[in-house]
Amino acid sequence: MRLLNKPNRLMLKGICYASIFLIVMLFSSPAWAQEAAPQDNASPQAVPGLDMSEATIAKGKELFVGRCQSCHAVTEQVVIGPGLKGVLERRELPWLLKWIRNSQALIQSGDPIAVQVYNEYNQTQMTSFLDLSDDDIKAILAYVKSAENQQQQAAAEVTAQTGGSEAAQASSGINQSYLVAILIGLVIVLVLVLAVLLLIVSLLTRFLKSQNLPEEDLEVVNEKIDLTAPFRSKAFLTMVGVFFLLVVAKAGIDSLMDVGVQTGYAPTQPIAFSHKLHAGKYQIDCQYCHTGVRKGKSANIPSANICMNCHGEIKRGSPEIQKIYAAIEKNEPIKWVRVHNLQDFVYFNHAQHVQVGQIECQQCHGEVEKMEVVQQRSPLTMGWCIDCHRKTVVKAEGNDYYDRLLQFHKNNAGKKPMTVEDIGGLECSKCHY
Ligand code: HEC
Ligand code: HEC
Ligand code: HEC
Ligand code: HEC
Ligand code: HEC
Ligand code: HEC
Repeated sequence: MRLLNKPNRLMLKGICYASIFLIVMLFSSPAWAQEAAPQDNASPQAVPGLDMSEATIAKGKELFVGRCQSCHAVTEQVVIGPGLKGVLERRELPWLLKWIRNSQALIQSGDPIAVQVYNEYNQTQMTSFLDLSDDDIKAILAYVKSAENQQQQAAAEVTAQTGGSEAAQASSGINQSYLVAILIGLVIVLVLVLAVLLLIVSLLTRFLKSQNLPEEDLEVVNEKIDLTAPFRSKAFLTMVGVFFLLVVAKAGIDSLMDVGVQTGYAPTQPIAFSHKLHAGKYQIDCQYCHTGVRKGKSANIPSANICMNCHGEIKRGSPEIQKIYAAIEKNEPIKWVRVHNLQDFVYFNHAQHVQVGQIECQQCHGEVEKMEVVQQRSPLTMGWCIDCHRKTVVKAEGNDYYDRLLQFHKNNAGKKPMTVEDIGGLECSKCHY
């Protein structure tokens, strides 16, 4: 017994196409919308004798990165010297000033703590910093303290929100996939309900027909079946056809748009260099190696000499480190494989974004400090650039260069914040040669 007559089958097909269309539309929504990373405005705890203003901390950070970071981390981690976390609690400020300026002098004067620390670290000599003023050293210590406060805050946040920061970052994505799942579920339920309804209609019609109904009643029954006639019509079939074509076209266009988009690209590098180890565990600042980020267009990949600042001593025997030595001996650069690569007709400048725009590396590159191997996390498409320029408010406060622009914007746009779009961030010539 055939339960579904032709019109009903046609209608079912129509519904199927419609739901396929819906599902494809849902899945194919472009993923270039970037969530802005939350800014941490940790207001540091006060420490007697130290100026904890942002300017001082910034100066301290610069000094620390340049002078101390090759041997010290701001965590408990021992690099060559002890981790400096908690150093302000375990030592007096005047002692620290003397030690950092000239540790050898302090040791020779017989200071018991100095002698003890020196022996504890196998009498490794710490460099003397005779050129640093008290204020310089205090700035470094202020930075160490502020980094400590930030770590505490981060740890508190991680425990507060179960799942930690990674989950928080991914949450927008998770929400979206939940939504998609729910919608698909709804569509499936709808299709099922419709199918059941059609079955019932079909069965009922059959049943009524099999009864010996009077002439007029039969007419009514037959009329009902005719209600499905519109679905047999040419117009309906054309609609279904057009729907189907649209689906195919959308899928085609999307796959074309994806040509050259390399999100997730993570090539194997010639040396097993790990950001997770260097930038994560040992907290080496990105700029220590990527020296160009605040100065110019390119971030720079560090030369082998920068590696040697540390690996002249650390892990000399490791085969991976031997590759650095080999490169230096042959006077050849290490052949790192490029991960991020914009097309030649696009102009992108790191300093503009990192120094002027105050955007964190992670907003564009993801959490590099957690990556064993660097992976491209953003699509680097035009839509991605434009999307951020539309959304991001320019950090104009305290920047004289923007004062007049900001005033102009206030006069013209009222309360709306000034985004990158408002300073010309959507002009073709800004990004295209
Ligand atoms: C060449 C490596 C090196 C550099 C560069 C270096 N240190 Fe040290 N530092 C050490 C070592 C090693 C020790 C452990 C004591 C020793 O062996 O002399 C130490 C000890 C210390 C201590 C004492 C820690 C404690 O627990 O008492 C402080 C504070 C310190 N360094 C601060 C600094 C600061 C600030 C700078 C940058 C201006 C700096 N160091 C640069 C190697 C270094
Ligand atoms: C000790 C030096 C060092 C530090 C510190 C460091 N990097 Fe790197 N970085 C490298 C080297 C070497 C490469 C090239 C090899 C590779 O891709 O792993 C690289 C590659 C990269 C790349 C990919 C470049 C490309 O080819 O497109 C990005 C992005 C990057 N680093 C970001 C960061 C960020 C963000 C930080 C700070 C959280 C950081 N790096 C800290 C040495 C460093
Ligand atoms: C500021 C110091 C510092 C700099 C600069 C640095 N490293 Fe390292 N590196 C370390 C420390 C510390 C370790 C961990 C050593 C250990 O595990 O005992 C390490 C470990 C490594 C290892 C793992 C070695 C092994 O066999 O376990 C590799 C590979 C490496 N570094 C490559 C590089 C390269 C390439 C560069 C230059 C782009 C570089 N490092 C720059 C401090 C540094
Ligand atoms: C606004 C987004 C954005 C920010 C912020 C950003 N980058 Fe990049 N980065 C890019 C793009 C886009 C490229 C590819 C550039 C190209 O191909 O010309 C790139 C390339 C790189 C490269 C490869 C070498 C080069 O210069 O082309 C490194 C290394 C790098 N970035 C490191 C960093 C570090 C470290 C930071 C933080 C201090 C950072 N980036 C901040 C977008 C960004
Ligand atoms: C995460 C957000 C973000 C992304 C992604 C981003 N930008 Fe920007 N961009 C900014 C901000 C913020 C500024 C404004 C900096 C300032 O204050 O001048 C800016 C400014 C610029 C400017 C200067 C505009 C002007 O009018 O002065 C250019 C050019 C530019 N970006 C190019 C790019 C390109 C090309 C890409 C993609 C490869 C890109 N940006 C991706 C945030 C972003
Ligand atoms: C904020 C930076 C930015 C601005 C503003 C911008 N573009 Fe682009 N554009 C890009 C980037 C990045 C790409 C490379 C996309 C890729 O490789 O997938 C690109 C690619 C293109 C392409 C090549 C498309 C392709 O798939 O290869 C054309 C054409 C183009 N842009 C035209 C324009 C025009 C016209 C304007 C002005 C209305 C404009 N762009 C403004 C960043 C920008």
